[in-house]
Parts: sequence; C-alpha cells; structure tokens
Amino acid sequence: MLDTSPDTLVYFENDIVPLSQARVPVLTHAFHYGTGVFEGIRGYWSAERDEMFLVRCEEHYHRWIANCRILGIDPGKTPRELVDLTSEIIRLNHFRTDVYVRPLCYMSTPKIGVKPDGKSNFLIAAMPFGVYLPSDNGIHACVSSWRRLEDNAIPSRAKICGAYVNSVLATMEAQANGFDEAIFLNESGHVAEGSACNLFLVRNGALVTPAASENILEGLTRASVIELAHQELHLDVIERPVDRTELYIADEVFLTGTAVEIAPVTRVDHRLVGKGTVGPVARRMREVYAAAVHGRNERYAKWLKPVYQHVLATLRH
Ligand SMILES: Cc1ncc(COP(=O)(O)O)c(C=O)c1O
Repeated sequence: MLDTSPDTLVYFENDIVPLSQARVPVLTHAFHYGTGVFEGIRGYWSAERDEMFLVRCEEHYHRWIANCRILGIDPGKTPRELVDLTSEIIRLNHFRTDVYVRPLCYMSTPKIGVKPDGKSNFLIAAMPFGVYLPSDNGIHACVSSWRRLEDNAIPSRAKICGAYVNSVLATMEAQANGFDEAIFLNESGHVAEGSACNLFLVRNGALVTPAASENILEGLTRASVIELAHQELHLDVIERPVDRTELYIADEVFLTGTAVEIAPVTRVDHRLVGKGTVGPVARRMREVYAAAVHGRNERYAKWLKPVYQHVLATLRH
C-alpha cells in the first residue's frame, strides 16, 4: 500500500480540504465508541482508456446509507450525489493510478457518554492504492480462535467502525502465527468470512458461499463473483451454511472483497487446499474480474463509473 500525502484533498465536514487539515476533536463520540459506518470503494486506472473506473460506486453508497440507518446516522446526500462528490475529489487530486475511496459517516458529538444526540458528520477520502493482500501464488489462512460478531451484538453487515476490532484481533492472531489471513467461524460454528473479505469454496463443480444470514458483510465483490460465476464460468452458486471441515476438503477456496479482490487460498490451517496451488476456478475468476473492473468487458460496464469522461460530458452540455 502507498502512503497518502498530507496534501491530498478530501471531503470533510461539507468542505474540501487537504488531508492534513481534516481533524476531529479528541472527544468525538465515534473516536471513543466506534460509532461510525464506513465504506471501501476501488477505482481502477485504465491507461488504455485514459480513464478511471469506480467500481459499483453507487451501490456502495446505497449500502453505506442503509448501514448508516442501522446506527441512526445519515450523510444527508443521495447515492448519486455521493458518486459525483467522489469523482470530483479524484479529479481535484488528478489521480491517474488505482485508488481506494474511504467514505466514513460518524457520530460527531464531542462529549463523554454513549447516548447519541443525533449529530453526525462524514468524510470521503480517496488515495492511491495498490495490492492489499498479495495472493498471486495463493495465501495461507487459518481458522481464527476469535468468533465472528453476531447480528444481535454488532451487525457484521453494517461496516460499523467498532465492529472492526473483531477483524483486527483475528488479523493480529493470524499474523503472529505466520498466516496471511484469518477465517472467522460464527457462533454456530459455521464459516462466516475473512477479516475484510467474503469466502467461496469450489465443491463438486459448484461454487459455495456462506449465506447472508451467517454474520457476513454482504459484499459487492461477492455479488460480482456470483454474477461472473453464472455468466462467464457457467457455474452454479450455492449460498448455504458452510462447515469448517469443508475448508479442508474443498477443491478450491478463495476470498473476495474490494480491497482483497480475488485471493486464492492454497492452504488452510497447514492443510493443502486441493493440490495446494491456485485452482482453475480462482484463476479464471481473477481474469474475468480483472477484465470487468478495468473496463475490458462491455457486459460489466454497468458496474463502472468513469471519472474523467464525466468532466468532458459536463463540458459538452
Ligand atoms: C468484513 C468484510 N467482509 C467482506 C468484505 C467485502 O465486501 P466488498 O466486496 O463489498 O468490498 C469486506 C470489505 O470491506 C469486509 O470488511
């Protein structure tokens, strides 16, 4: 990952300011209690097209607003306005490289006590971004000793800041034990997801993934992979509870997410997955996913928001 320059322009509390000036008071509610909701969106730079493509940007903002509703906060803008704001920030920064966009809406009350007072604010920061989880040759994952948060405790689907302590603890443990990534089981003992990614297995020629009710984040990459599996790989996709030991006997396992992209898992808990190499389904999925998000497959142009072309279109009208 690349360092973000303090001069990078970000949207912060109704203004566009350099990152170095985007500061919150130390008593901010969200800082103490984790009461924010965030998103993660990627933009891919296409040198061939001289264009930046934001991936499923409007859907990310739909999910963000819905998740904010769970916490009783509201950025007060429509998904389309937020897409425009995001494009604007990218253009102002003249980014011509892959980027990651981090919107965050948070309870902004500067006083002690969990009781919210209805005040919230939001920011959108975009930054140059590369590979999050190097996985070209497959990664080694462990089943975490930490359980996934339950929907009735802190909903995993909501991308709530405080909930990511769960992911941080699992990642710390995985790294300390020499693994690349952690896989969570939920309180029922079923496989849920990775620390910041969803999980798929290949079993008996079909894709299997934990259902939305298994305490997962309902990933947009997961949705893309399901569509690509049907359309491009002609595979059935089954959403159901997944047992831990299915990870050990699957032909393939791979993780999906905006940051992670498509990461093949070639070992779980020191056991080889399939032959212990990147399998044909994961390999093909990486290819079709990359083609889709880089604007090389017209069928998936519907997922992409061109950032710079938009300027020309506006000027023409
Ligand atoms: C816990 C968790 N699961 C899954 C995902 C993947 O979601 P998406 O594909 O929408 O990025 C993320 C990514 O942010 C995540 O944090």
